[in-house]
Amino acid sequence: MKTTLSVIKADIGSIGGHIRPSERLLEEVKNYVTTKGRSLVTDFYISHTGDDIALLFAHSLGKGSEKIHQLAWDTFVAGTKVAKDQGLYGAGQDLLKDSFSGNVRGLGPAVAEMEFQERPNEPFLFFAADKTDPGAYNLPLYLSFADPMYNSGLILSPSMSKGFRFVIMDVSYTEGDRLIELNAPEELYDIAALLRDNQRFVIEAIYSRNNEEIVASVSTTRLHNIAGKYTGKDDPVMLVRVQGAFPATGEVLAPFNIGHYVAGFMRGSHNGPLMPVRINSSISYFDGPPVVCGHAFCVHDGKLTEPADAFDHPYWDYVRNKVSQKATDIRAQGFSGAAMLSYSELEYGGIVEKMKKLEAKFKVGL
Ligand code: 13P
Ligand code: 13P
Ligand code: MG
Ligand code: MG
Repeated sequence: MKTTLSVIKADIGSIGGHIRPSERLLEEVKNYVTTKGRSLVTDFYISHTGDDIALLFAHSLGKGSEKIHQLAWDTFVAGTKVAKDQGLYGAGQDLLKDSFSGNVRGLGPAVAEMEFQERPNEPFLFFAADKTDPGAYNLPLYLSFADPMYNSGLILSPSMSKGFRFVIMDVSYTEGDRLIELNAPEELYDIAALLRDNQRFVIEAIYSRNNEEIVASVSTTRLHNIAGKYTGKDDPVMLVRVQGAFPATGEVLAPFNIGHYVAGFMRGSHNGPLMPVRINSSISYFDGPPVVCGHAFCVHDGKLTEPADAFDHPYWDYVRNKVSQKATDIRAQGFSGAAMLSYSELEYGGIVEKMKKLEAKFKVGL
């Protein structure tokens, strides 16, 4: 039997600004999936990261299953009713279309899916990030799949000897999925040349070149491209299979100790360091800092274990302190230069209007 893992996540409303969903909202979402999903999924797990609720489904219906996507959409619609009842902020924020049409891609929710033949033991990681975008995973994935400085298995393990194939999407192209496939290690410099631009080129998937199996899958939604205006950041989810022919769990977690600067933070318009946090964490300082949490599971015959919380360890307290310092440092320079995103990436139309007015006031040769 092949198992499919589908993570579908959306922000459908939160307490006190973009902080976290209410308990009642989470209850409604859990009850809805328990009642309506029982015959569809073999197992599920629901968590939140900041203001985003992620539904992790294990099932046998394959990627892009209309039934699974419909279940997620209907769950978010039911949750939005509760969010509206409670007057939550941004109720239904990521449901950008009025009705479901076969697949939630392009409707607002973020999706990461993979289908595989289960190994006798099948450990995997599910990451969810808030106040950032899918390009936030570019650097950690590059380091853990292509750099022996972070992945010692690339040197030590014969089952990773051939390296990995990166599937990279040009997310600024809106007519369809514009993809390129590049092989590590031979095409490392080409991979790096694309991945340096986190807002345009995003890793969508990674495959093992030793056994051709899927290893990683990332959500690549750009809400801006769907809505045509800012509605919230594209807070991304990711699935990564680990161990055996794939990186060890620790090799995938290792690059998250950098706290690298990513796009997002306040109003989706700034740069801030990505902080690894515990499962079900909320958001605080300057609507940030951008956060990522990691759930470590095993799946067997479509049944999930409980998650181990990948960043719940004293080591990560040290990292969180370091990242807090980095966040404070970049915030000290407010709107200036590198603290804010470039003009084309600013998420607010207001500045465009302001620039138009100011343009008209410029005079040459005063
Ligand atoms: P085991 O030898 O316990 O399988 O561990 C290998 C490994 O993945 C260490 O990171
Ligand atoms: P979310 O995308 O998480 O809703 O955050 C939006 C925002 O503007 C935070 O300042
Ligand atoms: Mg929000
Ligand atoms: Mg969010």
